[in-house]
Amino acid sequence: MASLNTQSRKHARRQQIRPMAGSLLALAIGFGVATATAYADDALPKLPTKTPLKVGFAQTESNNPWRLAETKSFKDIAAKCGWQLVMTDANSSNSKQVSDIQNMIAQHVDLLVFPPREEKPLAPVVLQAKKAGIPVILVDRDVDQSVAKAGRDYITFIGSDFIDQGHRAADWLVKATGGKAKIIELEGTTGASAANDRKKGFDEIIAKNPGMTIIASQSGDFARDKGRQVMETLLQAHPEVTAVYAHNDEMALGAIAAIKAAGKQPGKDIQIVTIDGTKGGMDAIAAGELGASVQSSPFFGPLACDVAQRYAKGEKIPTWVKVSDRFYDKSNVQQSMQYGY
Ligand code: AHR
Repeated sequence: MASLNTQSRKHARRQQIRPMAGSLLALAIGFGVATATAYADDALPKLPTKTPLKVGFAQTESNNPWRLAETKSFKDIAAKCGWQLVMTDANSSNSKQVSDIQNMIAQHVDLLVFPPREEKPLAPVVLQAKKAGIPVILVDRDVDQSVAKAGRDYITFIGSDFIDQGHRAADWLVKATGGKAKIIELEGTTGASAANDRKKGFDEIIAKNPGMTIIASQSGDFARDKGRQVMETLLQAHPEVTAVYAHNDEMALGAIAAIKAAGKQPGKDIQIVTIDGTKGGMDAIAAGELGASVQSSPFFGPLACDVAQRYAKGEKIPTWVKVSDRFYDKSNVQQSMQYGY
């Protein structure tokens, strides 16, 4: 996929800082020690320091615990941050997310914060916001950098390194299977930066391990039921499968249901690795059905608040505020339960 290369080059170029998700102190330290090469452009729209600040948050969908936790982190921080939130839910539709954001632009919100559902369809509306004089912070997922560029067209991207998440998932699977596996990959939403980069990172490591083969790869749209349905079909076509890589916990949980329904034992007949670190995923690790989950933190509210306040004061903002993620397997899942959501 052409966009994968664009994405990885983009990430390599950008100035990064690495707070643990939700840690304002770590974020502050990150800003302090950054050796900058790329910062948000001075020509970007300014953000007033007034209170309350009218902030538009345009969510993609609310069909899984990750999305609910992300939305909650914005609701929880709003009053503390002096934000009057305008919130929408695109119900898994790119065109609805675009029109939700266009409505917020028409309402003249002071700041726009959103996770772009897909890289390409959501890029032009970032330019529309800039033209209307409204600063934008992207969280969680990014847009196509050949259309709208961090630091030039919007303040920053706050989010995880999805390629690295794919690497970590693959590294675990190589170890867990002794470097020998026939893998089904359940991809996230086609065209989303999270799916593109999680695939790229995972596939890169698998390509270096000749005993590991991806025998099928199909989108389950980051949804539990879709993951279950896709897994049911792929299990019939590929009964030789010995491992599953799901791009998120919800699809992994759907896959576990399909594997059980087919009379096989998840965690024994088929090793499963995934990404997110939800409570459901962690419970499945504790039950021995899921092997490991790379955390992908959804707690962007406090980070976005901190970035916005710094930006309003005129501080330089790096073009990628990179979030560090935990990792859970049977060795640490019990003592890590407090991080589940
Ligand atoms: O973009 C992050 C992904 O989107 C999460 O892994 C997933 O659960 C969500 O829908």
